[in-house]
Amino acid sequence: MAAHQRLMNMMFGTICSQVVGTAARLGLADQLGDDELGYRELAARTGTHPGALARLLRALAALGILVETAPGTFRLGEAGRPLRTDVPDSQAAAVLLFTDPALLDSWKLTEQAVRTGEPTFEGLYGTDFFGFLATQPELSERFNATMRQVSLPIAQLVPVSYDFTRHRTVLDIGGGDGTLLAQILKGARSVQGIVFDSPSGVAEAETTLTAAGAADRCRIEAGDFFAAVPDGADLYVLKNILHDWDDERCGTILANCRKAVPADGRLLIVESVLPEVIDTADPAPYLTDISMLVNMGGQERTRDEYETLCREAGFAVIAVHPTVFPTSYSLIEAMPV
Ligand SMILES: C[S@@+](CC[C@H](N)C(=O)[O-])C[C@H]1O[C@@H](n2cnc3c(N)ncnc32)[C@H](O)[C@@H]1O
Repeated sequence: MAAHQRLMNMMFGTICSQVVGTAARLGLADQLGDDELGYRELAARTGTHPGALARLLRALAALGILVETAPGTFRLGEAGRPLRTDVPDSQAAAVLLFTDPALLDSWKLTEQAVRTGEPTFEGLYGTDFFGFLATQPELSERFNATMRQVSLPIAQLVPVSYDFTRHRTVLDIGGGDGTLLAQILKGARSVQGIVFDSPSGVAEAETTLTAAGAADRCRIEAGDFFAAVPDGADLYVLKNILHDWDDERCGTILANCRKAVPADGRLLIVESVLPEVIDTADPAPYLTDISMLVNMGGQERTRDEYETLCREAGFAVIAVHPTVFPTSYSLIEAMPV
């Protein structure tokens, strides 16, 4: 029975995801805040059918997102609090992004991706994921907010695992809204920073870096890492960039890094590094890998695979710094050869 139950729970994952995504789209967590409310009041506030909303609220309570404090009255449960948009550890944008119809449409074609080895996103939209984001300002803002929300816990671990004070200028390639650079500069006050990303990618960087008090030591540059990466730094960081792309595209990014990194400089690849044999304790990197297959055409990689990519681009891996448990992230330090 336990095996059947586990399998059924996985099948119900689609329903859970829709239930939580609908809660986020209706803004239920912001409506509730610290209060408790009856389903009729919530239906009036969200413009929904009271009976149907009551059923959604019960499903959310069954999942621990809400607590039913009296028949038909609900407050946020522990797992529901990050659905609020006004809490520092909000995950609301991530929930909205991962349940967005544009992404769900490519998930429907997972079997096709497995049969062909090709991402389905491009076939549906005529452009890759980031090309699509560049045409969708609202979705792009949501993607940047998602990256901020999911990256912050790792970004906070990165300065613990590597001594950034060894460097004068750190350039974060594909650094998005500057979340990682802000954490690096916070702990290394002598260091200057550059965030480099596409124009839509850096759209919120000024706000993040100013809020972190790092704007005066930072420059923001927009560009295309397939064309070139800026000169002028002695540490080039690539966090969650290479996993978005296939080996050929990674080769182009790394070749552009190789042209920019000075002889005594360093490249630091921050990625979830897969063990040689699957570690079933944490399914997250393997599920992200399938997301990369379906949506991006990229993949999660092992240490050996990153070493090969580096070697082919003229870098030698000289150290691998793991982040602290429970993340699977490592910092792969390489230098030009
Ligand atoms: C998965 S996100 C990682 C963001 C950030 N490094 C982090 O870990 O939170 C990939 C980033 O690559 C950027 N990007 C995609 N294509 C790009 C290109 N051609 N040139 C520069 N940046 C690009 C995206 O805008 C996005 O910010």
